[in-house]
Amino acid sequence: MSRSFDLIVIGAGPAGYVAAIRASQLGMNVACIDEWENLDGSNAFGGTCLNAGCIPSKALLESSELFHRAENEFGKHGIKMSGVAIDIAAMQKRKATIVRQLTGGIAGLFKANKIEGLVGHGKLLAGKKVEFTPTDGDVEVLDARYVILASGSTPIELAVAPFDGERIVDSWGALEFSEVPKTLGVVGAGIVGLELSSVWNRLGADVIILEAMDDFLFMADRQIAKDAVRHFKKQGLKIHLGAKVTSAKASAKGVTVKYEDKDGSQTVNVEKLIVAVGRRAFTDGLFADDAGVLTDDHGCIEVDDQCRSSVKGVFAVGDCVRGPMLAHKGSEEGVMAADLIAGEIAELNYNVIPSVIYTAPEIAWVGKTEEEVMASGRPYKTGTFPFAANGRAKVMEQTAGMVKIIAAKDDDEVLGVHIIGPMAGELISEAVLAMEFSASTEDLQRTIHAHPSLTEAIHEASLAVDKRALNFINK
Ligand code: FAD
Ligand code: NAI
Repeated sequence: MSRSFDLIVIGAGPAGYVAAIRASQLGMNVACIDEWENLDGSNAFGGTCLNAGCIPSKALLESSELFHRAENEFGKHGIKMSGVAIDIAAMQKRKATIVRQLTGGIAGLFKANKIEGLVGHGKLLAGKKVEFTPTDGDVEVLDARYVILASGSTPIELAVAPFDGERIVDSWGALEFSEVPKTLGVVGAGIVGLELSSVWNRLGADVIILEAMDDFLFMADRQIAKDAVRHFKKQGLKIHLGAKVTSAKASAKGVTVKYEDKDGSQTVNVEKLIVAVGRRAFTDGLFADDAGVLTDDHGCIEVDDQCRSSVKGVFAVGDCVRGPMLAHKGSEEGVMAADLIAGEIAELNYNVIPSVIYTAPEIAWVGKTEEEVMASGRPYKTGTFPFAANGRAKVMEQTAGMVKIIAAKDDDEVLGVHIIGPMAGELISEAVLAMEFSASTEDLQRTIHAHPSLTEAIHEASLAVDKRALNFINK
């Protein structure tokens, strides 16, 4: 007799494993299937986020930033050091330890929540049956009352610059370099491109970024993007906009990259090339043809606002469905799907999902950009406050950047908050909470912020919206 579960989740990334835990909390008998295989052949739960995305990239960003600050900033504090050097093997070992601890933690959480963690491939068949092919062992067909598909995404490969895993790599490969390349090419100035360029640039690589679009960080507020590109260029990143890569040929020495820009055909030789031109939903072998699951033009699994797929009782969450490819978006969708399956009321406010780019300065935003508000036709007002006028930023020696708030003129509602500066990824939570509660700038203005703190820059920006900032001359 086949094993049967209330819920089977396929994929144990941040969308899937969180859905499994929530469903177990709600009393369901849950299995979660995952096939992730690490470079050393070991299996681990956690998906892209824990194994090859959010966590390892942030580990390297932290190490490289500390190295950079030790070299360039500690002297200003009077800290005298000599012979500062980076041990890449030790840096990578620290990263691997963090990843192992966190992925092991998921296995522990599965055990504690009595979730059946199954290692291998899952495939949805017709009638909510799931074919499970273990990494070792026999194929088994499982029964489920409900299924959640959480199969994630995979890097997009360029036909003109195919990955070879050695010279031309994706984001995962770029997290695993065992030495600092002297020269590094990066195709795509998106989030991956900027974070990984920052890592290797800080450690000494000469980095050139080739971005096809003419606009830098097209999804961000223009004022913030303009400030960001200025800081990144100052850090030594060579950012070429409007550069279309036409070929990349790897040899024993490196990679010859040809691209076209407004001045014609160009060639650049680099030791390694990272291709970071976006990700696509990963649904290979995920469902049988007759399972009834529909996908859209982008290859994402079609779902409604509450993540119900075209098959009754089958939900899909995370990177494999529409919306931003962010871990926290996937996790909240996982919780929503589990709650709905248990008969609870659940919804997700897609208008207030924060985005963070973990560069230095960090960039974070929530809600609409000024350009989006302008295009909507709603009258608006803006306020900005520079970190250069914030006491905490000054003592932290991190005064680059600003907070910008966009609010409606009619009822003062906060429509968007954009931050470039120290700890922007932490600061943005105040704005997310404010917007979740439909706060006005007056609410932010009347909220007491601790002194000295970086959050005072948010307070001051909210005051600046009404031209009443206290520690800056209002324009
Ligand atoms: P995934 O994490 O991709 O997990 C899907 C899992 O399903 C995988 O383990 C896969 O092996 C498994 N799977 C797929 N198909 C099957 C099948 N048929 N059978 C069994 N198992 C299957 N997001 C952030 O919010 N913050 C960040 O700082 C951040 N940094 C990133 C840095 C990098 C370099 C990259 C590449 C991404 C980053 N992201 C970040 C994005 C984030 O990693 C994804 O949004 C997130 O992992 C999506 O979660 P998911 O659960 O939908 O999919
Ligand atoms: P992206 O969509 O952020 O950026 C891709 C960039 O490549 C774009 O600027 C695009 O114009 C450019 N591009 C596309 N085709 C090109 C070509 N042929 N030549 C040159 N440039 C080209 O995608 P990215 O950076 O790969 O990241 C994928 C996703 O992973 C992100 O969108 C994000 O959702 C997630 N992520 C999130 C992070 C975070 O939250 N801090 C960190 C890293 C990734």
